[in-house]
Amino acid sequence: MKTTEETTKAGGGDVRLTGISKTYGDFTAVHPLDLTVPEGSFFALLGASGCGKTTTLRMIAGLEEPTAGTVHLGDQDVTALPPYKRPVNTVFQSYALFPHLDIYENVAFGLRRRGIKSVKKQVEEMLELVQLGEQARKKPHQLSGGQQQRVAVARALINHPKVLLLDEPLGALDLKLRRQMQLELKRIQTEVGITFVHVTHDQEEAMTMADCVAVMNAGRVEQLGTPADLYENPRTTFVANFLGTSNFIEAEVDSTSGDDIVLKAGGGKLVLHRARASVPAATGGKILAGVRPEKISLTHADDAGEIPEGRNRITGRITESSFIGVSTQFVVDSPVCSDFEVYVQNIDRDPRLAPGAEVVLHWNPAHTFGLDAAQDIDAGVETVEEEVA
Ligand SMILES: Nc1ncnc2c1ncn2[C@@H]1O[C@H](COP(=O)(O)OP(=O)(O)OP(=O)(O)O)[C@@H](O)[C@H]1O
Ligand SMILES: [Mg+2]
Repeated sequence: MKTTEETTKAGGGDVRLTGISKTYGDFTAVHPLDLTVPEGSFFALLGASGCGKTTTLRMIAGLEEPTAGTVHLGDQDVTALPPYKRPVNTVFQSYALFPHLDIYENVAFGLRRRGIKSVKKQVEEMLELVQLGEQARKKPHQLSGGQQQRVAVARALINHPKVLLLDEPLGALDLKLRRQMQLELKRIQTEVGITFVHVTHDQEEAMTMADCVAVMNAGRVEQLGTPADLYENPRTTFVANFLGTSNFIEAEVDSTSGDDIVLKAGGGKLVLHRARASVPAATGGKILAGVRPEKISLTHADDAGEIPEGRNRITGRITESSFIGVSTQFVVDSPVCSDFEVYVQNIDRDPRLAPGAEVVLHWNPAHTFGLDAAQDIDAGVETVEEEVA
């Protein structure tokens, strides 16, 4: 495909936002934001409803005029360019296919509009890419939601944008189809190699698809990183709670020794590695010690003597247990946290681990992360629950 080669040679697929912001009256939808999306990456903007994802995306597309700041695509400042002059295409949640045109003509549309006569080869290639070659002569209403979605992607890609913007493109699909389409979109992105900027409020979706995720909260990017980095090293409670589940212990710095910070919490001691503390630790200062539920082991109190030395440990009592096949999810009441979540893989199940049982929770100190204590422990929690409800 000649145009694709030209695009690749010309570069320009990286998106650079500099000090970009958007206000509506006295409401700030996007606070001044600096963000670079590397060329050829699958980038996700993740955040709860109303945090400014669509506004950010629309500013990249040129559909929304920024209040301040600039948008660069490669070396080109496109801030003043209208949408149709930007090498960018957008796929929306409502893919808005032309109902009276068949799939082939829907995909061919962008080429025909530009006056290109021989569209056959390119349309066939695109249909092949999204695996709809067989469906070319059907009308949109004769396709499933996921197939229609792929037509929308093909229709956008045939214009050879340097950047494809996707705004909750899978939002209308049921969960199973969503999961399939996530893998499908990822495959398409790898195959065409252009930059994808994908907006979603679904953390699992962002984590499965993206090379890099920007977590947005109230008009700001709270943290940027690879999915694994964000999950393992959250720097705020919002990120720690929005991506998966975290347990937090309000602790006081007891002492520091070498690379270890010794914390006091509920009469016991916990160790936090200095490299995992995102705030400086001074003796007597407060810190939030976080640990993910799957890093914790549960041992019945009668067997506490068998727990190896050197692990962080906390005593508690099981209040809830739910068997979900691969694992059992426990809620444990302890002096340092009333609803500690612990996920135990179902290898050899201990039948004594049931509600009411006295237990010891223990984990490798390396799995503790330390956050600034001056923030809301539950930031990002409610929004996730709302999505589930
Ligand atoms: N034209 C507008 N006038 C006034 N306020 C607006 C306008 N467009 C968006 N907003 C506000 O800006 C904020 C960000 O909106 P945006 O559409 O970017 O959110 P979002 O993160 O895409 O949310 P969702 O996940 O619900 O799509 C919201 O509070 C919204 O109400
Ligand atoms: Mg939106």
